[in-house]
Amino acid sequence: MQIEWKTAPASEWQADALIFFTFEKPGELLPALGKFVKNSGKWLADSPALSDFKGKPSEVTVLYAPAGVGPTPRVILAGLGPVDRFETERLRNASAFALRKCFELGILRPAIAVEALEGFPCAAQNTPPSLEVLLREALVGAMAGLHQFNELKTKNTTVPGCPESLALLCEKPPETSLREIAALAQCEVAGIELARDLTISPANRVTPPFLAQAASEIAARFGFSIEIFDLDAVRSMGMGAFAAVAAGSSEPARLIVLEHAPAGTQNDAPLVFIGKGITFDSGGISLKPAEKMEDMKQDMAGAAAVLGTFEAIGAAGLSRRVVGILPCTENMPGGKAYKPGDVLRSYSGRTVEVISTDAEGRLILCDALAYAAERFKPALMVDIATLTGSSIIALGRDVAAVMGNPEALPEAIRKIGTSVGERFWPLPLFDFYFEGLKSEVADMKNVAGRPAGAICAGMFLKQFVPDQIPWAHLDIAGTAWTDKDTGFTPKGATGFGVRTLFELVRKK
Ligand code: BES
Ligand code: ZN
Ligand code: ZN
Repeated sequence: MQIEWKTAPASEWQADALIFFTFEKPGELLPALGKFVKNSGKWLADSPALSDFKGKPSEVTVLYAPAGVGPTPRVILAGLGPVDRFETERLRNASAFALRKCFELGILRPAIAVEALEGFPCAAQNTPPSLEVLLREALVGAMAGLHQFNELKTKNTTVPGCPESLALLCEKPPETSLREIAALAQCEVAGIELARDLTISPANRVTPPFLAQAASEIAARFGFSIEIFDLDAVRSMGMGAFAAVAAGSSEPARLIVLEHAPAGTQNDAPLVFIGKGITFDSGGISLKPAEKMEDMKQDMAGAAAVLGTFEAIGAAGLSRRVVGILPCTENMPGGKAYKPGDVLRSYSGRTVEVISTDAEGRLILCDALAYAAERFKPALMVDIATLTGSSIIALGRDVAAVMGNPEALPEAIRKIGTSVGERFWPLPLFDFYFEGLKSEVADMKNVAGRPAGAICAGMFLKQFVPDQIPWAHLDIAGTAWTDKDTGFTPKGATGFGVRTLFELVRKK
């Protein structure tokens, strides 16, 4: 869907439908809708549909102008819920539901008046969000809410109803900052959509070589440099933990190193993003139960989020040096598979006793972290991974866990995530959590007991990060996938993490 700016007097605005947002009744109409109702030749003011509309979150209604009245045949109202509970998330979802309605009805060229985003009161937050923030959220919601993955369907795949463009109407030429933020929203959505497509795709399509190919295409498009290592290379580099996980699969493993170093930044300490790329997690010899095992195609959502972030960075032309490291393999119980009890030598030299082959994510990440720290001397290192079921038990499916060092970093990431609608909550990494990871035969075990599972995984990773390197670990096991349609995220892969990582690069 294209975004098109149009400047004209309000009386000349033309669109197949004009979208407005409304708070839950009782309450005043937002100024732009109030003005439109006043100027619409009374049909709208007299319409019972206007007074019937409650303005609840996810509520959408279409009002039809009498034939021949005015240049806008339809008005779409999208509900924001109670005014005192307003958060930008409500706008993002309302905008998604409005565009979804256009999709259903085959409305090809809807429009939003930019002034419809003005006058938002805001009791829930201290400072009301700026027009830029509101426009960004409305556009991200509008575009990402329409996203579908139909590549593997052979029937009913044509979508004639999909809106072709969304017009942004203004009476005066828009400020540059608004144009820029609209362009930024498009870059973000391209990244989110890529991450969702890769994550929702099955494991017989998205294999490690497929991810390497996707990364190569991004690199070629935006001029990033890329290195791709196969299993032999990974082994000879000394990544014994990663190589052990890959041993049980006949699908070839890949280590992908993607780098964006715009002119003049080659010697800057980079931001390094590391994504867990388990393209299918059967559990290995510690095999998972059959029920819902198909969901484990999503175990590369961390890698997908990093690739999505690079897509967004490239599209937006951000000027920071950023490196992406993606260890990618299946976790399978083949004849050569690693086994519980095995002791592995990691890239760092530290040895690890395998208790469960299903705790494979931390094994591929520990080598990637140690390698990244040594090779790139990062200014900041962030790993993102569908790492533990325990994080879902702790925080549910709408909040990701964040851990890290120094202590202030998780809180900083929580704030940045909140600003773009991704919820994180910090978990502690107290030294005593390491007690449970002590091994009789090696430097550590890959699993402690069941208590504090998400933290123990974070604690395991911490052993491979030099203390002086700022490092955060994002456990997105709960948030990478959704079973409910929220508007902005249709059912399935969410693309969670792309917006936070992208924002980290923008703000750093
Ligand atoms: N990939 C899983 C974690 C996961 C669970 C991701 C649910 C997405 C949704 C991970 O590799 C795993 O199996 N973790 C185990 C660790 C345990 C063996 C210590 C878990 O969380 O049960
Ligand atoms: Zn596992
Ligand atoms: Zn896993």
